[in-house]
Amino acid sequence: ESSAPFGSTLPFQNAVTGEPLDWSMANEEGRDTPAVKEFFKTGHNPYTTIPKNCLTNFENVFLTSCSGCHGHLGEGKIGPGLNDNYWTYPAGKTDVGLFSIIYGGAQAQMGPHSDLELDQILQVMAWVRHLYKDGVADATWLTDDQKKSFKPYDEAADTEVKKTEDPAKCEA
Ligand code: HEM
Ligand code: CA
Repeated sequence: ESSAPFGSTLPFQNAVTGEPLDWSMANEEGRDTPAVKEFFKTGHNPYTTIPKNCLTNFENVFLTSCSGCHGHLGEGKIGPGLNDNYWTYPAGKTDVGLFSIIYGGAQAQMGPHSDLELDQILQVMAWVRHLYKDGVADATWLTDDQKKSFKPYDEAADTEVKKTEDPAKCEA
């Protein structure tokens, strides 16, 4: 159990056992991106506020690693829905908690996803937050400022965004 990246003292713990996460399992790649560094310092995922038209690659991580069990819109399948305001593990309502569930795993088929790069975990988290379809009041991972411009997930609008994707607009 090596210490947390960037000496973070945030409360990362296994969703089921409450044990501190085992950082020795972390993928060697993607550990020191600016986003990872900021996340371990602040506990907020900086990718959450990336413009919607820049999230395509994030969706690919979700489709590769998660949608088989959670559904392609996170609507739930053999694993629970991730796009609503009900959480088996309320920890998922914060970014530190959601990271901990993904990295450390939970029960049954929800194994640890520590094989993903830390940066990819932040990417997939941003995609999960993007898919969130319920009310802003329960979107506790957003700052008060971010809540002001929050819009619940809308599949029709999402398709529109992908058609008009313009990388030039990707600078946050
Ligand atoms: C639970 C995310 C991959 C099966 C969860 C929870 C989250 C999550 C946040 C907790 C939900 C809650 O508290 O309500 C993800 C993400 C994945 C992923 C982001 C990809 C990186 C998978 C895969 C499977 C799976 C590949 C199937 C092999 C499950 C199951 C649960 C669960 C069965 C319920 C576990 C329990 O209640 O303890 N997942 N998951 N997940 N997931 Fe995943
Ligand atoms: Ca849910």
